[in-house]
Amino acid sequence: MLTVLESLKLSTTFLENKGIESARMNAELLLSHILNCKRLDLYLRFDQPLKPNETNIYREFITRRGNFEPFQYIVGEVEFYGLKFFVDKNVLIPRQETEILIETILENISKTDELKILDIGSGSGNIPISLAVNLPLSKVISIDISAEAISVAEKNRELHDLKSRIGFIKTDILTNNLDKYLNTFDVIVSNPPYVNKQEFATLQKEIVDYEPEIAVTDNCDGYKFYKAISEKSRNLLKENGMLFFEIGHGQSEKIKNIMSENGFEKITIIKDYSGIDRVVFGVKR
Ligand SMILES: C[S@@+](CC[C@H](N)C(=O)[O-])C[C@H]1O[C@@H](n2cnc3c(N)ncnc32)[C@H](O)[C@@H]1O
Repeated sequence: MLTVLESLKLSTTFLENKGIESARMNAELLLSHILNCKRLDLYLRFDQPLKPNETNIYREFITRRGNFEPFQYIVGEVEFYGLKFFVDKNVLIPRQETEILIETILENISKTDELKILDIGSGSGNIPISLAVNLPLSKVISIDISAEAISVAEKNRELHDLKSRIGFIKTDILTNNLDKYLNTFDVIVSNPPYVNKQEFATLQKEIVDYEPEIAVTDNCDGYKFYKAISEKSRNLLKENGMLFFEIGHGQSEKIKNIMSENGFEKITIIKDYSGIDRVVFGVKR
């Protein structure tokens, strides 16, 4: 039977040979997940022998990570805005940058109003759920083209007990004008697929091989969704309603123009922690 330390050493070497960055950290995080302890607590348990079932699961996890499967899909969960979310290969892994989108919305709306919010591109449900938790009077509709993503989002809605305030709808924002919802929303938010067709092939193996392609790239110039959503949001927002986007590196000026051409004003850009323009928002004129 291998001890914790022996297992960590073998796994680290295996991951290093496969070209995984931060191999030791990955080995530690996966083992701490299996042993249900904090990563640093492993250091107090170096001599502890692993049980046969723990070794088997660890071997499976390390093999998957060695094939570049993202850590979050292997353990099946991720933390976003202080909340737990289930994830699998059908949804984009929520990114830290997207927390800035949530923060920006919370800082720029009235928390005491009964806001009606539309989220476009549900994924794991991280955006509608984080907003609903932090805006207890709000009601959110969240749409996604992927039925599989919506199943994951519904599981997360159940985890956070928000069925009465969040509705998920499977539909394509590029073809559906959501006419039923004219002048309905106070806030529209989207973190759409924004990587262009050429750039997609150059992304990390973890993303290209495992994350859903329709969640990452618009298979076009990177602006397809910003154009469609800005145009449609005009009709869906109430007077003075606000549109919030997460954006990719280098996209801010063009998206600002797209929003302006579609009748938005007071357009504001917010940077992320690396100083990159990450969120754009504006008010319906
Ligand atoms: C970048 S992911 C964002 C997921 C999640 N909101 C987040 O922030 O992690 C974009 C989402 O848009 C969805 N999507 C792609 N094309 C769509 C379309 N035409 N209509 C509606 N949703 C679409 C994808 O399935 C994916 O879940």
